[in-house]
Amino acid sequence: RRLLGTAGAVGAGALVVGAGAGAAGAQAVGGRPDPLTSIGSTKYPFHGPRQAGIVQPAQAHAHLVAFDLAPGSGRKAAAALLRRWSATAADLMSGETPRDDDLGIALDAGPSALTVTFGFGHSFFDRTGLTDRRPAALEPLPSFSADALDPKRSDGDLWIQIGSDDALVAFHALRLLQRKAGETARLRWQMNGFNRTPGATSHPATGRNLMGQIDGTNNPKPSDAAFDKHVFVPDGRDAAAGPAEAWMAGGSYAVVRRIRMLLDSWDHLSLERQERIIGRRKSDGAPLSGGSETTPVDLQKVGPDGALAIAGDAHIRVASPASNRGAAMLRRPFSYHDGFRDDGAPDAGLLFVCWQADPMKGFVPVQRKLDRGDGLSRFLSHEASALFAVPGGCAEGEYVGQRLLE
Ligand code: HEM
Repeated sequence: RRLLGTAGAVGAGALVVGAGAGAAGAQAVGGRPDPLTSIGSTKYPFHGPRQAGIVQPAQAHAHLVAFDLAPGSGRKAAAALLRRWSATAADLMSGETPRDDDLGIALDAGPSALTVTFGFGHSFFDRTGLTDRRPAALEPLPSFSADALDPKRSDGDLWIQIGSDDALVAFHALRLLQRKAGETARLRWQMNGFNRTPGATSHPATGRNLMGQIDGTNNPKPSDAAFDKHVFVPDGRDAAAGPAEAWMAGGSYAVVRRIRMLLDSWDHLSLERQERIIGRRKSDGAPLSGGSETTPVDLQKVGPDGALAIAGDAHIRVASPASNRGAAMLRRPFSYHDGFRDDGAPDAGLLFVCWQADPMKGFVPVQRKLDRGDGLSRFLSHEASALFAVPGGCAEGEYVGQRLLE
């Protein structure tokens, strides 16, 4: 269980929960800071029917990294690599220091909500002689008119998503996994992301993105009846997929888009225009149709002036399942900031990661619609894109992807 940042978690000033914490603040007796045990000790299991890093709250720090198999590395080498990577991920997520190879980077820290998630790209299947096992859902995404994609930072044979609430724990995992790739796979691209640190707000709250908006409100919730249907490939028994794709049971498809925000233009807009473009209030995330953040959006509501309360091109109207024949996805993004471009504009935005059982029933129809009529699109540039098949999890002694690779 996550100890901070979820409903019912701690309130203001409660970041310090170690022995001696309380009114004395961050300094315990003896002048040493209390350990932030509630963040460090948060632990998610690596083994299980589904991989971690999908339904868990997005962590404060992330590395998204893609690899290509080295020339000559085929199915056998890929299987051995996934076995090494899975063993390392299992150790790190449980808070164990890997016995054979440790770098000391995360010494003293707990797992800090670490998740490590593995996926396969379209090109992986040709390189490993498994073309006939490639799921239809992994067909390349269509192009969109607003795309300005950099192929060097797109796609890839293999993908790892690393998330942790501690920056050193996250980097440690990245570095170890990169070393374990050895001669088998080479780094293709890497992106670093972040979210608000658990405990940074006085009460648990939906996070904000770099445009300042509360982002994530209308995500499907695991308690929704249709959540699994939208997000996960059905397990073997009721899988509609053919046998070639049965290895994806319990898995999901991750769409990764590096979306730069044109912040210099956005920041010049009045608050009112910014809110009309999204369809929600910036301060508290309430829909412009009324209520509070969690009030259901009323897309039909008309104001006293006869105009729609939520504009025709408002992001939440154009993206909503109601406007897209029920298409839905789980958005689990990270912000990024990689300094400033030559023109002085921030190289910053959203590492948009969304999860769905089938991209053709999630990301693709929604992005098509956004591409045509979303008021927000004018302030965004899609700079990189990738789609990965993320298989279900594995049992102890197994590795992720074993049903495909063995
Ligand atoms: C909702 C921002 C890109 C799909 C929202 C909301 C914000 C937001 C502030 C309202 C709060 C919420 O429900 O989470 C952004 C920003 C983007 C971006 C800043 C790019 C940098 C995308 C993309 C897609 C998408 C690429 C999918 C193709 C959605 C959906 C909703 C949503 C489905 C919920 C709509 C509803 O049913 O109310 N987004 N978004 N967004 N966004 Fe985006």
